[in-house]
Amino acid sequence: MKSALQIWHPFTNRALDPTPLMVRRAEGAYLYTDDGRKIIDAISSWWVNLHGHANPRIAAAVAQQARKLEHVILAGFTHEAAEELATRLRKWVAGPLAHVFFSDDGSTAVEVALKMAVQYFRNLGQAEKCEIVALAHGYHGDTAGAMSVSDESPFTEPFQSMRYPVHRVHSAYCYRCPVGLKRETCHIECARQLEELLAERGQRIAAVIVEPLLQGAGGMIVHPADFLQRVRELCTKHDVLLIADEVLTGFGRTGKMFACDLANVVPDLMCLSKGLTGGFMAMGATLCTDRLEQAFRSENRMHTFYHGHSYTGNALACAAANANLQIFEDEPVFDRIAAIAKINAERLAHLRGRDQVGDTRQLGTMGAIELVVEDTGYLSAMRPKLYAFFLGRGVLLRPLGNVVYVLPPYVIEPDELHRVYDVIDQAIETLL
Ligand SMILES: Cc1ncc(COP(=O)(O)O)c(C=O)c1O
Repeated sequence: MKSALQIWHPFTNRALDPTPLMVRRAEGAYLYTDDGRKIIDAISSWWVNLHGHANPRIAAAVAQQARKLEHVILAGFTHEAAEELATRLRKWVAGPLAHVFFSDDGSTAVEVALKMAVQYFRNLGQAEKCEIVALAHGYHGDTAGAMSVSDESPFTEPFQSMRYPVHRVHSAYCYRCPVGLKRETCHIECARQLEELLAERGQRIAAVIVEPLLQGAGGMIVHPADFLQRVRELCTKHDVLLIADEVLTGFGRTGKMFACDLANVVPDLMCLSKGLTGGFMAMGATLCTDRLEQAFRSENRMHTFYHGHSYTGNALACAAANANLQIFEDEPVFDRIAAIAKINAERLAHLRGRDQVGDTRQLGTMGAIELVVEDTGYLSAMRPKLYAFFLGRGVLLRPLGNVVYVLPPYVIEPDELHRVYDVIDQAIETLL
């Protein structure tokens, strides 16, 4: 008899990394493993979980939907769960974002936004306006287009030949200011590079893509709101579309429903995924303005957006997303978020003074600590040591190189979150 296929785990090297742990079940903020461990999921399983694992309300909604309609092709057909989701999302997003295009995950939501931006100008007869601008330290996913707009990193290095060229401009990484200034006295001079680029080449540029206010995988870098506002102003001035990749920041992560809301910025395109289904189902969504969508409504068939995935608008994913948004309406979700933010702020304030801590950063439920080590970056030798230390003490944290961050499900209890920070404290004392 043939043996079972070996699972090839993501971001995992079988020669170097520990054997994956078998998870039997999960509940709230906890994972329960086969070998009897109870682990706090302090990163919401790659930032997707909001209201706790195996949330009974979302589970019931998915089960109910599965008995009615599991999936139907979304070209030429629609269904109640998708229509309901479009209506529910409309309530939360800024007024001008009037259309939603469903896809499969964060990367495909980004691919859709990039392709829409390029085809938008083509449909208007401005095919030369097709270049993309992205930020240093950005991360937008692992598919080829998303990888192209992501900054160079160990994730992209082997695929240099597959990445199409984009313009890369400074981000507002205040701890390592790209223009050598101090946040307290600066005037967002880091945005000048974008300003100059758009002044010079604006006629050829279709879009600027940003992770609004918080660059996640690039090191949990928090931007001042002025930076995002400046990017918006510059895009408007040069008739360039602003794509806000809210895949990480959406659904309350930053303290508001969307990071753009914190800065009072309305993008032309917005990418959503991760928290969209409360962590239950893979789903992406790209929202856009009416002005943008109108350019695709045309007598010319070649103006059609020829893009779609087999599972686009999957009914089970829509049902999970609807239940997720219903929880936002019925339960004190933003109080839970505020409670997490408060503990993050308190604990980071204590860590800030330590010699081993270079910087602390926070935005809502995300708290990050940039450690002082010799080899910074994702491949820092400190990363696997920290990971093992945390896991050995019942806490799942996956440092981004020398940046340790906490990003818990909103249902984490205060004592559980304090426990996570206690373990981080111990790691700093023991390993650095
Ligand atoms: C900002 C951002 N965009 C896009 C993605 C890609 O999402 P996915 O992994 O679902 O393809 C991620 C994933 O971490 C992300 O953080």
